[in-house]
Amino acid sequence: MDHFQLKNGVLHAEDVPLPAIAEAVGTPVYVYSRATLVRHARVFREGLSALDRPHLAFAVKANPNLAVLSVLQKEGYGADVVSGGELTRALAAGMAPADVVFSGVGKTHAELVQGLESGIGQFNIESEEEGYELAAIARRLGKTAACALRVNPDVDARTHEKISTGKRENKFGVPLDRAGAIYAALAAEDGLDMRGVAVHIGSQLADLEPLESAFTKLGALVEELRAAGLSVTQADLGGGLGVPYKPGDIMPSPADYGAMVARVTKGWDVRLTFEPGRVIAGNAGILLTRVIRSKRSGNGPPFVIVDAAMNDLARPAMYGAWHDIEAVAPSGNRMTSHVVGPICETGDTFAMDREIDALTAGDLAVFRTAGAYGATMASSYNSRGFVPEVLVDGDRFAVVADRIPADAIMDAERVPDWL
Ligand code: LLP
Repeated sequence: MDHFQLKNGVLHAEDVPLPAIAEAVGTPVYVYSRATLVRHARVFREGLSALDRPHLAFAVKANPNLAVLSVLQKEGYGADVVSGGELTRALAAGMAPADVVFSGVGKTHAELVQGLESGIGQFNIESEEEGYELAAIARRLGKTAACALRVNPDVDARTHEKISTGKRENKFGVPLDRAGAIYAALAAEDGLDMRGVAVHIGSQLADLEPLESAFTKLGALVEELRAAGLSVTQADLGGGLGVPYKPGDIMPSPADYGAMVARVTKGWDVRLTFEPGRVIAGNAGILLTRVIRSKRSGNGPPFVIVDAAMNDLARPAMYGAWHDIEAVAPSGNRMTSHVVGPICETGDTFAMDREIDALTAGDLAVFRTAGAYGATMASSYNSRGFVPEVLVDGDRFAVVADRIPADAIMDAERVPDWL
């Protein structure tokens, strides 16, 4: 359930009509609903109510906007971060260092230092090599790094290949069959406090079976480690729950997910961590755009050219992803068209041969389910600048990220005087 609904024929974010935002901020613009973020955060938590004190760490990569993080912090969420930049944001949003998990396959030396100095709650170690480096830094700084070992369970998540992370050939984690030996070696290192294990097999998962299979393998590893006399008090089950993008998409609910987790992890006797991203933020945001003009194509449907493009919302170009497209003030008429952005490549296409609300030049429209992996994946390709972000709360709204115009980006460039 989200709070982007038609009221008197006009699409609103909560109680704010979207044309008011377009008027005040211009388009394209990302619009987030606080009530929807809060609702999703609570529904996810309720889904896990059978578990003892689950630790919820929002995957910052899904939506790193400070205001969004602050909403989630107030809901008791910590953060899963994958870079120094994300760590800085999580702390700036008020998340307690102890509630931060640092994932990521290529943490740099500087990032490991930053994590240790910030006193974060857990490093998810992605390789034996990373573990030794972290141990050495911790000893030098006179600190102890609380760690989990991320394993690669060799499970096919059955999602888009670019967002699958749990197959043997993917770069993430350590192979399951070497995990016991690596865990034991790292547990013997001064500077490291090996507390548990972690897994994340991919994103936008449409069924629970691959997750169950990965968690089952993780449970067997926990037993193996304990049998070898090693201590395990934590298990991080990652994120990955899919969300509906198009009508008819059926996704497992947080309640179904929670029931499966409770069943599979029964008797593990660990504290569980979760790293949800998309399921919290995806349907809490839309990208608001304006039609520049329509253009007739050869024999086929017209091209509706909108002012948002692949640099603002990369998912369709990058993964062939579907985002629902709706008119902000639908007339009731429908049409079949191609919906494209202005960027000079064919990949800048949001939909082909899609039946949508009739749209003409000047009309406002939205791309739905753009709250996760939307603004954060933007670029300035074609010198288009970065889109602003707005947070709605009831009948008020605030710009929570300014538009960064193309000239501001150009201002950071220099032509050397020897040219
Ligand atoms: N934890 C780890 C270690 C991750 O790598 C990810 C996502 C998550 C948690 C959160 O997963 P979620 O709950 O959001 O599925 N840009 C892509 C998605 C990439 C996901 C990367 N990792 C997209 O737009 O679909």
